[in-house]
Amino acid sequence: MSRICSAHSSTFPKRSGEATFWIRDVPVHGDVILSPMAGYSDLPYRYLCRLAGSAMSYTEFVSVIAFLAGPNEKTLRMLSYRPEERPVTMQIFDNDEDRIVEAARRIEELGPDIVDVNMGCSVKKVSGRGAGAGLLRDPAKIGRIFARLTRVLKVPVTGKIRLGWDEASRNYLDVVRAMQDNGASLVAVHGRTKDQAYRGDADWDAIARVVEIARIPVIGNGDVRTSFDIERMKRKTACAAVMIGRGAIGNPWIFQRRDRHEVPFAEKASLIRRHFELMSSFYGESTALILIRKHIARYLKQYSGIRDLHQSLVQVAHVEQLNSLLDSATKRLEETGQSPRARAIA
Ligand SMILES: Cc1cc2nc3c(=O)[nH]c(=O)nc-3n(C[C@H](O)[C@H](O)[C@H](O)COP(=O)(O)O)c2cc1C
Repeated sequence: MSRICSAHSSTFPKRSGEATFWIRDVPVHGDVILSPMAGYSDLPYRYLCRLAGSAMSYTEFVSVIAFLAGPNEKTLRMLSYRPEERPVTMQIFDNDEDRIVEAARRIEELGPDIVDVNMGCSVKKVSGRGAGAGLLRDPAKIGRIFARLTRVLKVPVTGKIRLGWDEASRNYLDVVRAMQDNGASLVAVHGRTKDQAYRGDADWDAIARVVEIARIPVIGNGDVRTSFDIERMKRKTACAAVMIGRGAIGNPWIFQRRDRHEVPFAEKASLIRRHFELMSSFYGESTALILIRKHIARYLKQYSGIRDLHQSLVQVAHVEQLNSLLDSATKRLEETGQSPRARAIA
């Protein structure tokens, strides 16, 4: 297993040979996938996760209204990708059928392999106007959207859903039927309702029920944090692949099936440097310095021995400071034995 940021990091995990599963005519090699996450699954982080073994890329969700109004630089940046990331899924959200179809048609010109409709966002501003998880309240409308999208687009159309609007309306099986009967090529299921937001446990039994009735591949999602969880979800649900969100923030190693505590701090430090370089060339150094802070906080989650450095690291103001703080933290953790020893790499 290679390190993500080694000198050979341009080598992507295997993509030839037999596909793990297909999204219509798009082969996917691998069964673990980074979730679309606004503010996190941007090109630099997706790229690192793909290097680590995430099997495909989903962009952050993009507002159809914003896209049709411009699209401005921010929106286009959210939809940019590196060719090595393929298969690339571009995800959109809205509540209006005509707008969704028009935006998807124009987004297809940007070259995605797949277009995905977000039906999972629980944020009030989105779901409250019938977009994101708001769409779940109207499976017939979902059916119409997929019928039109699959007629208009050449690339496969997929959707990411929750289990329903609230406990009283867990209509996910109807939603999946509406999708697949109208041409959807895959469904990703986050095992919670919109009302739950991120509370309670994700219901993996519900994901298993989707797998039972679905004629299309199902991606399971929700509460996968460790390599053991990946196998547990696969066993419990028989899903085609597992999608990881929060458990992958500050933890691209999960795609190598390595858990946070197994990764030596020195390896984390050099990956943070690599992450920052990628962000710098993508956003420019000053924006990268701000955006990297939230990632650093997540990379450093479990280290009690560097609390003082932690504070400075999450407020880092220039590159030299980032490098010297990472050096100090590495030294300190090695001295105190708080970092596991580097594992032999095959
Ligand atoms: C910060 C953040 C941003 C998210 N943004 C998106 C998004 O843009 N599109 C989407 O479909 N889901 C989004 N999600 C939901 C995740 O993709 C995923 O469904 C959810 O976090 C549950 O998976 P997890 O338990 O592995 O985190 C987001 C979640 C988080 C925490």
